Order: sequence, then structure tokens, then C-alpha cells
Amino acid sequence: MFDIEDEDRLITSTRNSEDTQENSLRPKCMSDYIGQDKIKNNLEIYITAARNRGEALDHVLLYGPPGLGKTTLSHIIASEMGSQIRVTSGPAIEKAGDLAAILTNLADDDILFIDEIHRLNRNVEEVLYPAMEDYALDIVIGKGPSARSLRIDLPRFTLIGATTKAGMLTSPLRDRFGVNLRLELYTPEDLSVIVDRSASLLNVEIDSEATYEIARRSRGTPRIANRLLKRMRDFAEVLSEDKRISIELARKGLSLMEVDDKGLDYIDRKLLTAIIDTFNGGPVGLDTISASVGEDSNTLEDVCEPYLMQIGFIARTPRGRVCLPAAYEHLGKRLPEDKLEQIKQFEKEGIIKDEKE
Ligand code: ADE
Repeated sequence: MFDIEDEDRLITSTRNSEDTQENSLRPKCMSDYIGQDKIKNNLEIYITAARNRGEALDHVLLYGPPGLGKTTLSHIIASEMGSQIRVTSGPAIEKAGDLAAILTNLADDDILFIDEIHRLNRNVEEVLYPAMEDYALDIVIGKGPSARSLRIDLPRFTLIGATTKAGMLTSPLRDRFGVNLRLELYTPEDLSVIVDRSASLLNVEIDSEATYEIARRSRGTPRIANRLLKRMRDFAEVLSEDKRISIELARKGLSLMEVDDKGLDYIDRKLLTAIIDTFNGGPVGLDTISASVGEDSNTLEDVCEPYLMQIGFIARTPRGRVCLPAAYEHLGKRLPEDKLEQIKQFEKEGIIKDEKE
């Protein structure tokens, strides 16, 4: 799932081996799940209603940047429904028969979680349509004129699909989800509560200022907050006599990890520097930036961009990405007058797209 480089990186689109152990940090019930209040409130209603009717929950699509807790939330949904969960992912299901085997092995009210659901191949996806709509599997027996179609009933299950790219789902698949939930980046306040909770589960002492420092430099992402906390624990255990994560230790550790004051790491800075220095501030297409900085365009798009857009450092236009004044200021670069005029013109014409689109 991850390459060696990803192991050393703070910012990745996939889980690393340590995150997988982080299961112990995962909240197990809705009341321990911090933030995403709108989603939680609505989900609790859907879950209660489904339970009261004695039905399976409608199919749920969770989308948003990596590391926001889509898998965690799915486990919580299963536990609140009192259901078993079966976990798989789009790329892991290679053939239609693989999915058919998974579906026929489910029991009533089970939850099937498919991560990266946008990566299902078309043949596999087509098996899902009748499964989601009618709890049925259509099997074709034989070939040519004598081929017959056989319909097998499936248990009443709930599909939870997770994706970082809702736009890449085909519309027949998207339309079959009754519940669509978009996870937002977390506020530093919510992340502080998560860091505090994780620190106590890890038995590490941390000052409240240090908690907030880690939270505000975690790019709105719990997975990054938990990774930073674990690295700060390493620094504290080796460098600090009382093994406590103080604000001074957190600042020192974060600076040694080259995580800057806004939580940007070297990939973010490379991306911004390329747009400004190599492409004259943009607009420039994502693939061009990707080739120039030597980073995978998916990482740039899924992991770097959501946060850079959220803090107003870059914007999308129909002609590509542009750097905004705050990015120039952060990197200590001069914003030429004509660039500023161009940005203002983009804003006036309304072609700087809303980051939520
Ligand atoms: N770990 C990951 N996401 C979390 C959340 N939303 N609340 C608490 N702990 C988390």
C-alpha cells in the first residue's frame, strides 16, 4: 500500500505501518469521535431511524481528503448499528467474481466498507449496481444465444464507500448512495482535543500549549496530528529530562522535522515555489507542476492542495493553479504588481473556483 519513501513522510495519502497500529487511538463510538458535527448529528439520526425500523442503513458515501477518519467513522457506524463490518478497497477487488464472493458471504445488516471506491474497475462496479439497488446478484450462465441470466438474492447489507475523489465516481454508482457525506478539514481546536486524547492513550505528558502547537500545524488532519504527536514523543523521550512534551520541545521537534509555522512540509513548499518561480505564479496545470517537482499528481491534488486552498495559498482556475498573495508572503517572495492585478481580475470574473467544488 505504501512505498519506502512514504514511510518517512509526514504527509501521505496512504496509511503507513505506524498508522495501522494507531487502531488503538481510534475512537470506538460516536461520542468519542471529535469534530465533523454536522455529519455526526445526521448520521446518528439515520442510524437511529434504521434501527427503529429494523432495516439496514442506506448505503453511505464518505468523501474528503485522506486522513480525516473515513475508515474510523465506518467502524463507528458499524458498532452503532450493532453490525459486522467487512473491509476491502477498490484496487483489492480485481475481478467481478471477487466482489460476488464477498457479497454472497455477507449476512443480513452487515456493513461492507470499500475504501478508494473510485478505483473499482468497471466490470466490478457493474456487479454493485443490482447489489446496492435490489440486494441481488445477476449471474450470466453460458455463452452466446443459450446464455441465461440468473438472479441470486443477497442479504440486506449496507455499503459504505470512501473516496478522496468524489468527482471520479461514475454517476450510476454515485446515484445509488442514499447518504452522501463530505468530511471537512478539522479546526485546530478540534485537533487539540484529538491530540490531548491521543496523548493520554499513549501515556505521554504534554503541555496544553504544545498540544495546540501540534494541532495548528497538522493541516486540519487527525492522521497528521497523531503522527506529529508520536514524533514529538520520540523527541521528548530522547531530548527532554522529564520526557514531557513542552512547547519549547514541540517547537524544536517540529522545526527539526521541517514542518513550518503553517504546518507546511517540504513538498508543499516545493509545490508553491514551483508555481511562483518556474511558472510565474500560474495559472499552471497540475500535471505540469507534478512533472516539474517530481511528485505524484495524486499526492499533490489529494493531500497538498486541499489544505493550501483552505488557508488561501493557492486557488484553482479553469486554466490551472495560481498562487495567491498569502503564499508569496509566507515564502518571503515579492508579488509583482501585474500578478496581483491578474489575481484580482480572476476574483472579479469569479473564475477562482470555490475550494469545495
Ligand atoms: N482520530 C482520528 N480521527 C478522530 C476523530 N475525529 N476524533 C477522535 N480521534 C480521531
